[in-house]
Amino acid sequence: MPDVFVAKAAQFADGERRIVRAGATEIGVFHWQGQYYAYENLCVHQGGPACEGLIMHKVEDVIAPDRTWNGQKFSKDEIHFVCPWHGYEYDLKTGECAADRKLRLKSFEVVKRGEDVYVVAG
Ligand code: FES
Repeated sequence: MPDVFVAKAAQFADGERRIVRAGATEIGVFHWQGQYYAYENLCVHQGGPACEGLIMHKVEDVIAPDRTWNGQKFSKDEIHFVCPWHGYEYDLKTGECAADRKLRLKSFEVVKRGEDVYVVAG
């Protein structure tokens, strides 16, 4: 299958995403902190459009040295996107399901050719 054009790099700002189609497959492409990530837009739970969901920093519990719970905070490093159907969360940098790291979205390579961004679909 030929590579799929995603966007002109200048028109695909950091923090944005695009949904492209490669034949019958939808692919979500993320531009995050200077890197590109691409995953099949098909949630491992019930096939929802996982890549179209909210992008947010992982919520982490804050545990004190005495093991008491001190509330929650947003992770500085780990970013998730959340399937809009039932809330499965995926690590934006790996495609792994946050609740079960054995589950992951199918990933695709993203390449930049000149000023154009492509997904290697096949
Ligand atoms: S289909 Fe994605 S959480 Fe259910």
